[in-house]
Amino acid sequence: MKKGYFLALFLIILGLKTSAQTSNASIEKKIDLLLKKMTLKEKIGQMNQLSADDMETNFKVIQQGMAGSVLSITNPEIANKAQKIAVEQTRLGIPLIFGRDVIHGFKTIFPIPLGQASSFNPDLVEKAARVAAIEASETGIRWTFAPMIDIARDPRWGRIAESCGEDPYLTSVMGAAMINGFQGKDLSDPSSIAACAKHFAGYGAAEGGRDYNTTAITERQFRNVYLVPFEEAVKKANLATIMTAFNANDGIPSSGNEFLLKQILRKEWNFKGFVVSDWASITEMVDHGFSADNKEAAEKAINAGVDMEMVSGTYVAYIETLLKEKKITIETINEEVRNILRVKFKLGLFENPYVKGNLKEVFYKEEHLKLAEKAAEESIVLLKNEAQILPLKKPKTIAILGPLADAPHDQMGTWVFDGEKKHTVTPLAALKEQYGNEIKIVYEPVLKYSRDKDSTAFSKARQIAKDADIILLFLGEESILSGEAHSLSDLNLQGIQSELLAALVKTKTPIVTVILAGRPLTIEKEVKLSNAVLYAWHPGTMGGSAIANILFGKANPSAKLPITFPKNVGQIPMYYNHLNTGRPAEGSELNLNSIPIEASQTSLGNKSYYLDSGTDPLFAFGFGLSYTSFEYGRINLSKNVLKKEDILEISFTLKNTGKYKGTEIVQLYIRDIAASIALPVKELKGFQRIELQSNEEEKVTFKLPISDLAFYGIDMKKKVEAGKFDLWIGSSSAKGEKVSFEVQ
Ligand code: BGC
Repeated sequence: MKKGYFLALFLIILGLKTSAQTSNASIEKKIDLLLKKMTLKEKIGQMNQLSADDMETNFKVIQQGMAGSVLSITNPEIANKAQKIAVEQTRLGIPLIFGRDVIHGFKTIFPIPLGQASSFNPDLVEKAARVAAIEASETGIRWTFAPMIDIARDPRWGRIAESCGEDPYLTSVMGAAMINGFQGKDLSDPSSIAACAKHFAGYGAAEGGRDYNTTAITERQFRNVYLVPFEEAVKKANLATIMTAFNANDGIPSSGNEFLLKQILRKEWNFKGFVVSDWASITEMVDHGFSADNKEAAEKAINAGVDMEMVSGTYVAYIETLLKEKKITIETINEEVRNILRVKFKLGLFENPYVKGNLKEVFYKEEHLKLAEKAAEESIVLLKNEAQILPLKKPKTIAILGPLADAPHDQMGTWVFDGEKKHTVTPLAALKEQYGNEIKIVYEPVLKYSRDKDSTAFSKARQIAKDADIILLFLGEESILSGEAHSLSDLNLQGIQSELLAALVKTKTPIVTVILAGRPLTIEKEVKLSNAVLYAWHPGTMGGSAIANILFGKANPSAKLPITFPKNVGQIPMYYNHLNTGRPAEGSELNLNSIPIEASQTSLGNKSYYLDSGTDPLFAFGFGLSYTSFEYGRINLSKNVLKKEDILEISFTLKNTGKYKGTEIVQLYIRDIAASIALPVKELKGFQRIELQSNEEEKVTFKLPISDLAFYGIDMKKKVEAGKFDLWIGSSSAKGEKVSFEVQ
């Protein structure tokens, strides 16, 4: 009995070991064997992804071996049924891979990615993605179409909500954290889901911030800015899949861009995962005017290196003919199928195709909700805190006003398919629950939703405000106003929300404005009129508790902006890491009102700025306040002259000089002063979260490998160029002591 037990245990361990450690070489051998057995039709099937809209038809297609993946099944029984057909009723039994947009949580919704990026906390972001993977994988989903690591510098673009903002370094760090969280330690673990970095590439640079619009990114900008997070994801985070973008860059749609997909992704980065097109982005090459018809679109996508086609069916329709016509080769098809099978093997789908479906055990677990609350706390940015009005000092009566105070659906944000509003804790619910017994809370939404233009309840709101010690005003935008295809040309608060604030100001009751939104909004006026402003993004399921914790000081805000806040739309694009121009302006040297009437042509100023809004943003990248204050000591460099292989140590003392315990996100920026190409005025190269008690101080050290200063220069090769550098350590991109060093 004992012997048998040990033997069984041994076999189990052996089994576990072999499946977990299946080497890449043995996977390639398995693929060789499988490919040899596969008919052309079966290969084409693997390259075809179906949408879950019509599962009855899908079951038949799967049975014919004509599908490799289905997108958006969320019911484990249906997933298992489809999988059973693939595994037991097709000739070779190749399992399907089920994909879904699990963007910032599955059931437990975390802050939108732009909010998560504000935490500058990759550990937390990784944990959030892990929770999303645990919840999603239980339904059969083993592949998410996330993270979106498009550099996004235009808040008009609705998808900015899904991004980590404007900075290549921050996006790389956050993107890698998300990939690690989704994919777990080992892809073959049943709770691991393959990540899909998207959108490759340059989608965030859409002209005018209008979704799907054309981009004009040069190869050097691609390599130094837009591709940086993707390169990191492939080389350092073991990224499993990549999605092509909708946009045409310089006239070439991404799904037909051989240079991006073959030269850069495969040859230079040695990417081993698979590439999926975006939804119908192959057939859209016809609309772009890049392909005469769907058949030519398929040809271009295959030859460019798109391994799997999302929903548009041209591969199934045309691959056979294209092969006969010698427009594509069987070697290309084999390679593309190999890429797909490799990921399926790595996910352990061949050994473990089915899902248990213990949904109750994993959805909305206490620990998931706790983490979502922490993530929201760390994503809320304190933009203004006049006279230290926050944290609130136990007022007797609070007026809770505004359309976003109790909007359980909208606070979850864009790209939420599976989260349910009945699980959302709104600010109103949390404040009532936590303080309802001690404080009189009077609530009036005034406006039903952010776009509402009905001012009937204004007078009631004014009365409530007059009788209160403080107004908590929840403004912002509904979730549907950001996200895919939801671009805006006006970023002022929607409807009559500004008018509401102006009306409340007249009551003289202090106002704390909390904004819930999917993007930076142009809120210069509102910031001036409010005594304090919290930018909560769309904070997810537990956003209300997090906001309540921050308002009353149970949590001290630490978040920093991952994106510049412009004063007005006309300033866009505005990002901290811009080039200097030949005529940089410092502040507003000339302003519209100082120009005399009938002024003669003058060269006064002749600097690069707007006459009507200067050069400064409303809030700079990296900005965010705390309830406490921090003092930065003088910067000490380990050396002033370094070699390219050196590591520069930068240290300084950080002191918490305020009354509260708090976390400061200290930021390290550099500028390469003169190089073979002009480089940005500042570039983030590191950050740390430092938690200090009141009056505590700590020596903070950064280790900056000089190799991190490499960029693609005039010869399009990535390297460090010798010369002088400036370096700043500070609390935002607009602050900090500057020191200099030299690289020889
Ligand atoms: C989006 C992708 C998404 C896909 C599948 C597309 O419209 O651009 O980001 O993953 O749909 O839902």
